[in-house]
Amino acid sequence: MSLVWIPACAGRTRFPNKSFAHPLRSLRTLRYSILLRLMVKSNRKGTPTRKGIPLMYSFRFFALSCALLLTMSLANAQNPPVAPANYDETKIPDFTLTDPLKTSDGRIVDTPEMWNNVRRPELLALFDEQMFGKLSDDGSITITIREKHTESVFNGKGTRHQLVLQFSKQGESPEIVINVLIYTPNNVAGKVPAFLGLNFMGNHTVDADPGIRLNTIWNRSERKQYQPTAEERGRQSSRWQIEKVLDRGYATATAHYCDIEPDFNGGSIHGVRQLFDQKGEPNEGNTIATWAWGLSRIYDVLAKLAEAGELNIDINKVIVHGHSRLGKTSLWAGALDERFAIVISNNSGCGGAALSRREYGETVHRINTSFPHWFNGNFKKYNLDVNALPFDQHELIALIAPRPVYIASAVEDRWADPKGEFLSGFYADPVYRLLGTDGIAGVKEMPGVNQPVGGRIGYHIRTGAHDVTEYDWEQFLNFADKHLK
Ligand code: GCU
Repeated sequence: MSLVWIPACAGRTRFPNKSFAHPLRSLRTLRYSILLRLMVKSNRKGTPTRKGIPLMYSFRFFALSCALLLTMSLANAQNPPVAPANYDETKIPDFTLTDPLKTSDGRIVDTPEMWNNVRRPELLALFDEQMFGKLSDDGSITITIREKHTESVFNGKGTRHQLVLQFSKQGESPEIVINVLIYTPNNVAGKVPAFLGLNFMGNHTVDADPGIRLNTIWNRSERKQYQPTAEERGRQSSRWQIEKVLDRGYATATAHYCDIEPDFNGGSIHGVRQLFDQKGEPNEGNTIATWAWGLSRIYDVLAKLAEAGELNIDINKVIVHGHSRLGKTSLWAGALDERFAIVISNNSGCGGAALSRREYGETVHRINTSFPHWFNGNFKKYNLDVNALPFDQHELIALIAPRPVYIASAVEDRWADPKGEFLSGFYADPVYRLLGTDGIAGVKEMPGVNQPVGGRIGYHIRTGAHDVTEYDWEQFLNFADKHLK
């Protein structure tokens, strides 16, 4: 009995001719065939006709095992394991990058008009459809400034503004509140440029300033809200350098990213997406798109307050920035919303500034598996075939053109592929030049460590790990001075 069945599994009885059978026999079938043979062997031993029962059991065992193996292999086919990260430049697969200056139907983009009217909208739509996703914001969401507190801080050096924003739609007001913290420099004549970025651990962590409210926040790993304590104040202050930014004449604004939407799969039911009419389609926006949307809404509020003379911010000089997943977010926010004057990506890596096709460090497959809620459903189609993507991340950078963009990497942050981050800026250069800027200013290769380079596209790689450091801020401020002052 089994002898007939087993070779069929292994593909041998069906294909007695070895040369024909061989290419069809995958490693997995081979493995299964060995397993089945072992089962048959033990069956043979335990099948003496003295007892019929073991034979019946072994039949069942056999059938169940086959069903199990089939299910396992089907599951494997649907969720193939993610390959280990590659950190070897010589093992980077061959690839051809998509050309930012060629339309999908093969036309060469050789004028700024063609870029602005044809290629840019086309690329934006592709990123929207295939990666970040659309949000069904029909413009009916209202933002109410529920509270606003203003106080002088740092011995008169600056002013702290704290806003409580309530998001609602046509009277529906689930408790969606975004707490915005803003510092503006005092003793500066006129309106000042401002940095705007989301923070990872709550507003109270960006500086030890005891006046920052200890708002309840979402804890992403425990998937629940909690009340922070005073000990957590200033935990991430090195990443924000608030006083340095004020000293250099800039304002700085932030909000906790989980106020917009908590960062876990399923978090959308707790954030602003409750107010959207999402249908669960694969092209719909996910968490990164929502955070980016939130940045634009905070911009709206800053603009309103600046217009009303309640904030001395120059709304035409707002720099959107972000670290890591929030660097992916700042790039997408900056690509979508041309009101952002400068865009900064710090260690944004896969799905941010790093080229997907290099598959160095974190890959598309890895990120979509670990963080399925960040990008849209369509992006998962490219898990095993990044070369099928109709774009690569240099085109995300190009979508920011001609506005200045700064990409920052760190030597030890190999997971984010520093070279891939540099190359995105490098390959966005033709678009910047088409639009009449100096692009990456003739830089031909990746610069040495701690040697910032570039023109309208700026880049540095610093010593150290995945982080935002004082060194990074020095470069961001120098870059902003160069382009805004
Ligand atoms: C993980 C993730 C990265 C992300 C980073 C972060 O490491 O794999 O893609 O940039 O978290 O946001 O800190």
